[in-house]
Amino acid sequence: MTIKVYIPRDSASISLGADKVARAIAFEAARRGATIELVRNGSRGMFWLEPMVEVSTPEGRVAYGPVKPDDVAELFEADFLYGGQHHLNLGLTEDIPYFAKQQRLTFARVGITDPVSIDDYLAHDGYRGLANALKMTPADIVEEVTTSGLRGRGGAAFPTGIKWRTVLGAQADQKYIVCNADEGDSGTFSDRMIMEGDPLVLIEGMTIAGLAVGATMGYIYLRSEYPYAEVALNEAIAAANARGYLGDDILGSGKTFHLEVRRGAGAYVCGEETSLLESLEGKRGMVRFKPPLPALEGLFGKPTVVNNVISLASVPIILDQGGANYQEYGVGRSRGTLPFQLAGNIKYGGLVEAAFGLSIRELLYDFGGGSRTGRPIRAVQIGGPLGAYVPESQFDLPLDYEELGKNDAMLGHGGLVVFDDTVDMAQMARFGMEFCAIESCGKCTPCRIGSTRGVEVIDRMVEGKDRPKQVILLRELCDTMLSGSLCALGGMAPFPVLSALNHFPEDFGLAEPADKAA
Ligand SMILES: Cc1cc2nc3c(=O)[nH]c(=O)nc-3n(C[C@H](O)[C@H](O)[C@H](O)COP(=O)(O)O)c2cc1C
Ligand code: SF4
Repeated sequence: MTIKVYIPRDSASISLGADKVARAIAFEAARRGATIELVRNGSRGMFWLEPMVEVSTPEGRVAYGPVKPDDVAELFEADFLYGGQHHLNLGLTEDIPYFAKQQRLTFARVGITDPVSIDDYLAHDGYRGLANALKMTPADIVEEVTTSGLRGRGGAAFPTGIKWRTVLGAQADQKYIVCNADEGDSGTFSDRMIMEGDPLVLIEGMTIAGLAVGATMGYIYLRSEYPYAEVALNEAIAAANARGYLGDDILGSGKTFHLEVRRGAGAYVCGEETSLLESLEGKRGMVRFKPPLPALEGLFGKPTVVNNVISLASVPIILDQGGANYQEYGVGRSRGTLPFQLAGNIKYGGLVEAAFGLSIRELLYDFGGGSRTGRPIRAVQIGGPLGAYVPESQFDLPLDYEELGKNDAMLGHGGLVVFDDTVDMAQMARFGMEFCAIESCGKCTPCRIGSTRGVEVIDRMVEGKDRPKQVILLRELCDTMLSGSLCALGGMAPFPVLSALNHFPEDFGLAEPADKAA
């Protein structure tokens, strides 16, 4: 009997030795005459267990991890192919608490299927959303997405259905679907994980978007730092083309949708949608003035849907199970689930897909297990380099767009970077300004010049040069950047700076540290 053995092919697992483990298992199986089928799946998102090897047993998949090449012979001795006992045996994958507590909708197949196999995709409910969409009118598809309450997962949380409706209503000889796969935020990796672990769900989502708005061409703008995602996407696109899920006559429907991957060149600002479009057109990534909106004049001046990877990858399950079902998850105006990403100083870093509404504390402690160093968590930056630093006193806030917004924080793309009590928040604030200075596209003054002046002001503050005056100057500078920047890079760079200043003044030499002040 052939036994299926799963070893992830995503970059996190490969960087931890997954390829070497796969070679060692293939070698050992051949040496022992064991018949196995090695499947290179996506990661389940529990990075401290990678490389995590799974074997298919009648009871379900049994996991072993983290496996090193040197463990392989011993695993064979312990009959791991049949779920045998070994100190690396983690039990049934589905029962690992970190995994079992999640609500996986968008990531339902990640780690389960062979990412580039159409047959495996179909066997796990793939392409059911497209099958439904092919029977619907464009307006009905847009309506279903609107009903779901899906909001852009790239950061701005703009309702996806409304964006699609604008593009559907625009008159043009050509329209485009552009997938924003630039994923530049610190501590984020959900786009990468889904592109490496289930690229077909993104392809299906983009195809449905094309049917919805009348676009026949799509581009995935992929950051150059994701070479494994590029390979997986191109293999999956080729497979979809070969089986008639992409191309001139999708499944005999007469509908057309073509898809190509375009590689970015490593600029954070190219994640901003208009800058991305410039880059996609072959120009330097500079932010465009709005209006016109990309929905009306986007790529090559044509109506364009620009959506984040996770937004698009959430569409197939919405069209499969219905928008009403999707919107039952979540709280307030934050509907559905979000793949949260835990990074930085955290014991159990990884991906947690859950409905909106769980608290920061639940995510950090119930899932993350606290800091990796075992020290108290002092701050967590949520939403990338432009996100606020949230102090411990706010850890009971629910992870929901509006609730965080009310507290001068933001959810963004769902990445959390954790810091323990050894962090110097003045240096983190300085880094926020420095990041903006380095990544600014240079088009507007508050961002281009303001960020450099911001670094200088913080330096003077830390050196103790007339601190009260520097605080006033820093706040005025932040005000100018907030209200005078053309895009959110300059417009939000003050968030981490002001949150650090407001919540941790002692690090700027402005007050006694909290523990000494009493
Ligand atoms: C400086 C900057 C960087 C951004 N980077 C990304 C990114 O890497 N990925 C992304 O999806 N959106 C990014 N965005 C947001 C996009 O401009 C845009 O809102 C998003 O692609 C729209 O897709 P969505 O509605 O599906 O979120 C960035 C915005 C700014 C201002
Ligand atoms: S805010 Fe910064 S990145 Fe955005 S347009 Fe202005 S200079 Fe460019």
